[in-house]
Amino acid sequence: MASATRTLTRALRSAPTTQTLRSATARRAAAQGFQQQARRGYSNQAPKFTSNNSSYIWGGAAAAGLLGGFSYFVLSGQHDTLAEEPKQFTPKAEDYQEVYDAIAQRLIDEDEYDDGSYGPVVLRLGWHASGTYDAATGTGGSNGATMRFAPEKDHGANAGLKAARDFLEPIKKKFPWITYSDLWTLAAACAVQEMGGPDIPWRPGRSDRDVSFCTPDGRLPDGSKEQNHLRAIFGRMGFKDQEIVALSGAHALGRCHADRSGFDGPWTFSPITLTNDYFKLLVEEDWQWKQWNGPKQYEDKTTKTLMMLPTDMALVKDSVFMPWVKTYAEDCDKFFEDFSKVVVKLFELGVPFTSSEKERIVFKRTE
Ligand code: HEM
Repeated sequence: MASATRTLTRALRSAPTTQTLRSATARRAAAQGFQQQARRGYSNQAPKFTSNNSSYIWGGAAAAGLLGGFSYFVLSGQHDTLAEEPKQFTPKAEDYQEVYDAIAQRLIDEDEYDDGSYGPVVLRLGWHASGTYDAATGTGGSNGATMRFAPEKDHGANAGLKAARDFLEPIKKKFPWITYSDLWTLAAACAVQEMGGPDIPWRPGRSDRDVSFCTPDGRLPDGSKEQNHLRAIFGRMGFKDQEIVALSGAHALGRCHADRSGFDGPWTFSPITLTNDYFKLLVEEDWQWKQWNGPKQYEDKTTKTLMMLPTDMALVKDSVFMPWVKTYAEDCDKFFEDFSKVVVKLFELGVPFTSSEKERIVFKRTE
């Protein structure tokens, strides 16, 4: 994908990504740390951890960890009779931090993908796993990771997400005790943080489910539609107007791919760094229909290299959405604050947690 746009975005990303790009020394140190961590066993004996109660951890993840440990214990199929000694591993907050660190390191290492990071597509995986939630029936949501299976993995909206699932496979192999559904949302939280976004407090507690829990097609939004559709889709999950706008700010990241959704191009000039540029561009830039042999989308008049979906432009056309677009365009801190809250809510939709909100973990970022 050596388009002029990509060249431009790759060139420009160096400026706003100073937070996210690391020095060679830091990378090496992190890699060494990762290798050391990777040597630790996980299943046959409960590792003896000493919790140092780091300030970045809000609370122990013990209760939720027990659930995760139980899932592994059951799913591993190593326990045949009740008389056997349980081979149980109870992950703690620091174990999830290790998973976070391994994902963050992999995001740094695999920098040849797309605009230089798997971060955007990993975030999209977490969102599409969660965004199937239906509040009325309690079905869908991130609990289950049913996108591993057909038909859900083949739903049109999920085109291209195999890249993110495959990217996370070595992490799952390294930490087999974590469920896919916990892994996907943890990875998405990691992607947001590592791309310079706000903290996304996270807690475990999701279990993987079988193919019978796949959700029907059509639960995720269709970019060719407008505000009524957005309200119907996000309203079904339990989101209000302000939350729809805040969530849409994720489109500061990544791009559309003609061979996936059919749409093409990035929304901003810094697609691997989270900023409020999506909102700024919506407000400040002039947008016109792109003349091309593809689905209806907008392009910016100035460079013709950026894009907006009809659902993105609906945010400025709608009198209730628009004030929120302006608020976030003017105040990145406010956007980050609201984005964090609404993404935490998104990733927790329909999850039967046994832990409390206070037990969410705030992961330490890579240096
Ligand atoms: C508001 C309704 C939404 C619509 C209609 C929509 C639609 C789309 C489409 C069509 C793509 C391009 C896929 C491709 O061709 O690769 C995309 C990409 C993306 N979306 Fe959304 N999306 C919506 C909401 C969200 C939300 C709520 C998030 C996260 C919180 C999100 C995060 C992303 C990211 C990060 C990408 C880039 C993926 C990549 O670079 O591979 N989107 N979205």
